[in-house]
Amino acid sequence: MCEKCSHPLQHLLDKNRRWAEEMTRENPDFFPALAKQQTPEYLWIGCADSRVPANELLGLLPGDVFVHRNVANVVVHTDFNCLTVLQYAVDVLQVKHIIVCGHYGCGGVKAAMEKKDHGLIDNWLRNIKDIYHQYAERIALLPTDEQRADRLCELNVRAQVGNVCHTTIVQNAWARGQKLAVHGWIYGIKDGRLRDLKVSFSGIDQIPDAYRIWNDNGD
Ligand code: CO
Repeated sequence: MCEKCSHPLQHLLDKNRRWAEEMTRENPDFFPALAKQQTPEYLWIGCADSRVPANELLGLLPGDVFVHRNVANVVVHTDFNCLTVLQYAVDVLQVKHIIVCGHYGCGGVKAAMEKKDHGLIDNWLRNIKDIYHQYAERIALLPTDEQRADRLCELNVRAQVGNVCHTTIVQNAWARGQKLAVHGWIYGIKDGRLRDLKVSFSGIDQIPDAYRIWNDNGD
């Protein structure tokens, strides 16, 4: 709360004013140029967690990355919100890279591992429960709860990278020869570092046959 006034969010408005002034001082053309167009090279699909802000941890400015965030960075084929972001990023902005980024210690992933009713969110987390069920035996071999949850965070990223690649949006982009790569990363909230999970895809030949809407030769 600001001491001089009653507006509970005045400190945020003040911070914003100082930030905009500083940006303009450094580059007077920064905002006018961005107002004309955005040309980000990257689409970030990440968790809504407040500790995982895309621009800040990538060291990128406004205009550099198109962002979609939801609880536990899930990509579901019936989620029009995520699909709309994906289509705009791929078809209109023509981003070159899609980064699906999970994070260790993800509350959504941990909740998906619990035998507990969390309410509405359980329907969303069900997507992660499917992955947990699929890899349950391997995950159970890990010695601690933290390691088991972190392993599922990684497996969730891998699954969501697959879901991105299986969309008609990404497959159609590849079929028309558009350069587009999909990557899976994970972020450590303990050290602020990103790790590449080495699950990158850049062509239709890399996805399982059953998911393909095109053959290798584009037919
Ligand atoms: Co999370």
